[in-house]
Amino acid sequence: MLKRIGIAGVTGLVGTTLLRILESGPQEITDLRLFASSRSTGAKVRFRDRDYEVKEVEPEGFKDLDVAFFCLEAGLAKKLAPKVAKHCPVIDKSSEFRLRDDVPLVVPEVNPDALKGHKNIIANPNCTTIPLVVALNPLHRRFGLERVWLASYQSASGAGRELLDQLHYETEFIALRRPPDTTGSPLPAQLADNVIPQIDALDAHGHSGEELKTIRETARILGLPGLKVTSTCVRVPVTIGHSLAVTGRFSRAVKVGDALRVLKDAPGIVLSPGNELATPADCRDKDAVFVCRVRPGAEPEELSFWVTTDNLRKGAALNAVQIAGLLLPA
Ligand SMILES: NC(=O)c1ccc[n+]([C@@H]2O[C@H](COP(=O)([O-])OP(=O)(O)OC[C@H]3O[C@@H](n4cnc5c(N)ncnc54)[C@H](OP(=O)(O)O)[C@@H]3O)[C@@H](O)[C@H]2O)c1
Repeated sequence: MLKRIGIAGVTGLVGTTLLRILESGPQEITDLRLFASSRSTGAKVRFRDRDYEVKEVEPEGFKDLDVAFFCLEAGLAKKLAPKVAKHCPVIDKSSEFRLRDDVPLVVPEVNPDALKGHKNIIANPNCTTIPLVVALNPLHRRFGLERVWLASYQSASGAGRELLDQLHYETEFIALRRPPDTTGSPLPAQLADNVIPQIDALDAHGHSGEELKTIRETARILGLPGLKVTSTCVRVPVTIGHSLAVTGRFSRAVKVGDALRVLKDAPGIVLSPGNELATPADCRDKDAVFVCRVRPGAEPEELSFWVTTDNLRKGAALNAVQIAGLLLPA
């Protein structure tokens, strides 16, 4: 049972979302410990009519807890998670452990069995990979997935509070028809009124870090090591909600009607009735992965569709809470 919880990075976008999910959930939480950087030490965070003090993260603070949620960047997770894992299971949202053989990478609707034999660190996938595999997995089970083409349209909140604040700031300038100052921006170009076709650094072949995450994590979670995924990840001036244009090729012909029936019954998916549009604005603060525009691809074995989800919820915090629910059932 999930009763004693620690959250590292509670003041960030994912940490705040996680706290709100727990607050409205059924868990009776008897011990809640909140951690962030020294900048936040002493800050008060409200949870179910009580104020909790934020402390600077340190491994001994996680003693005797049922689970630790890590909402920190990868370098900090690398340093701290193995130490905290001596006290309790760590569900880590960074990219640090996602491809390690001894760390399960879990999306509860897709590969819950991967948790078996875990060694107290469990990785939460990338916020674009999660909705992608939730949508692809039921189609794969029915039609046999062979190939994926993906273009993502990723919101500013996917890069944390700093970029979200920068987008708000730039948007005010654009509304006044003035060029925003981008000197302090974490991005190489203005984001408001613009799109940026690169997320993270490029490797020697020109693939971005975000593209490689979606390619490698998708193959791992679906249990298809040789799966070919072509991925283009783009940052767009949306506050919350990642969207994906996906085409899958399968081992047999796929009729749209059959695919719609599969998707309609699949866990975690809301299929737009009548195939109406689902946009990031529709999915904000909602738990599901929304799928629409399901249509034939260029070949009978191909299917194209649109996916959108709240990257802070199912793309991050909710997926972690679901993993904790599998580790510690009520
Ligand atoms: N945003 C998403 O949609 C998303 C989705 C999936 C995965 N993730 C991953 O989740 C993690 C958190 O992302 P986020 O978007 O929540 O980032 P964020 O909004 O920038 O929050 C970062 C958190 O880390 C804390 N922190 C920073 N430096 C620290 C230090 N030296 N010691 C202890 N705590 C420190 C911050 O505390 P202070 O407030 O005190 O600075 C804050 O609580 C990242 O690894 C990210 O890649 C994010």
